[in-house]
Amino acid sequence: MRTQVGIIGAGPAGLLLSRLLHLQGIDSVVLENRSRDYVEARIRAGILEQHTVDTLTAAGLGDRLQREGLEHRGIYLQYPGTRHKLDFPELCGRTVWVYGQTEVTKDLIAAQLDGGPPLLFEVSDVRPEDVDGDSPRIRFTDADGVEQVLECDVIAGTDGFHGPSRAVVQGAAGRVWERTYPYAWLGILADAAPATDELIYAWHPEGFALYSMRSPSVSRLYLQVDPAEKIEDWSDDRIWENLATRFALEGWELTTGTITEKSVLPMRSFVSTPMRRGRLFLAGDAAHIVPPTGAKGLNLAVADVTLLAQALVRLLHEKQTDLVDTYSDRALARVWRCTHFSWFMTSMLHRSGDDFDAELQLSQLRRIAASEPAARELAENYTGLPLDL
Ligand code: APR
Ligand code: PHB
Repeated sequence: MRTQVGIIGAGPAGLLLSRLLHLQGIDSVVLENRSRDYVEARIRAGILEQHTVDTLTAAGLGDRLQREGLEHRGIYLQYPGTRHKLDFPELCGRTVWVYGQTEVTKDLIAAQLDGGPPLLFEVSDVRPEDVDGDSPRIRFTDADGVEQVLECDVIAGTDGFHGPSRAVVQGAAGRVWERTYPYAWLGILADAAPATDELIYAWHPEGFALYSMRSPSVSRLYLQVDPAEKIEDWSDDRIWENLATRFALEGWELTTGTITEKSVLPMRSFVSTPMRRGRLFLAGDAAHIVPPTGAKGLNLAVADVTLLAQALVRLLHEKQTDLVDTYSDRALARVWRCTHFSWFMTSMLHRSGDDFDAELQLSQLRRIAASEPAARELAENYTGLPLDL
């Protein structure tokens, strides 16, 4: 087999890259080790920045997003006694959209299977090879157990945090930057109409809570818990009681409903540099992880592949190496900005158990509520900074 761009991983990063290249007349093959059902069922975050919506729409993936996505014009920051609204259009002229990553993935797969480039599920033993030379290849075993070789001009490692590409790019010269946080999120999906018009980020002495949603009848809620916490110890009643305590505000009531999914998510920041070695390019979770507090993971993956697609078009159509040569630095500028913002939101909102920290957090929250420049800084980062910083 031969293609121009061999893409490892069919998450949002790999699928969108394949789509963007296809629209520019560049061939690719996407190799995914899981099944289609598995990939389409994974529940992940749900906030799309303006540039993500624009990119998906321009790529012909905007139909269901425009119909079912919910445009949000702000968020609430809550701390005891106060629920303060940040109005994004007023602060920075942009909005965000609630549309689950699961839905984005389904739309991308549907487009790919409808006349798009090949997408192979359930492959195994995927290995990028000879990435330092001009003709790299990917060896893998297909779903029928047959060993295959995919010859490529370029390989994209969009295989998420656990994929094989990052180790190859790291080689001897790479570097990893990491922070693990001493808390986790317990997340639920509930058949309950959202009791709020905008997402609520709540600081509370007992821990952070986030009120999000997926549709007019499905709420997505999170509680800060200890990373060692076992999901079996959290009955539905205990979850609702904790949510009611942490979101409590006079004159407001939490609506409950049937919990259809619950899980505990770890929180970490992770950056792997550089994002390129020879003809192998990393994008998305393969190169970086952010804690979910700033809702940046998916948006960062989309920003990476937008830059990468432009660079590969220039390389493969015009034989110019300038954009591939600067890809890693340009992508990392945005990665570090989002890494900072996600760390900042996480640090401001989670209870560390230290009362000095708590006073600093409350002081920062009050500052954002009182100062337009402070609020604008948050709004600009939350709704998404320009692609190329
Ligand atoms: N071979 C082939 N595919 C692989 C391999 C492998 N060895 N290892 C992992 N994969 C696949 C995974 O099964 C997954 O489908 O690579 C894909 C990576 O997708 P994601 O983990 O979704 O990562 P990415 O596409 O970068 O999406 C960015 O945004 O909200 C965040 O973390 C969230 O997934 C999200 C991310
Ligand atoms: C979500 O809806 O899953 C969500 C929203 C905002 C975040 C994180 C997760 O900051």
